[in-house]
Amino acid sequence: MTTFSTVAKTRDIAPGTMKTFVVNGQSILIANWQGTFFATHDVCTHDDGPLGDGALVGEEIECPRHGGRFNVKTGAATQMPAMFPIQTLAVQIVGDEIQIALE
Ligand code: FES
Repeated sequence: MTTFSTVAKTRDIAPGTMKTFVVNGQSILIANWQGTFFATHDVCTHDDGPLGDGALVGEEIECPRHGGRFNVKTGAATQMPAMFPIQTLAVQIVGDEIQIALE
């Protein structure tokens, strides 16, 4: 059974923005794309850059180090030099709480 943990309130992350949180020792990125929340690990698969220091461009996370991009919904690498996907995490909203599933 999947266990969800509360990470933030929905009001903490405005549409078109993203923030990072440390949960169980892991840095997690949560993005608000058009009112829907998505969670990924906060580590770029190109060279371990901190994605949370980058930008949300449309539905893509742009890495601040070399400009690689990842689809915020699927984690798929969408722009070089990123080639491999980032890991996504399941999200559920309960009331005004954003909860994520950590493995
Ligand atoms: S570390 Fe992210 S694109 Fe290079």
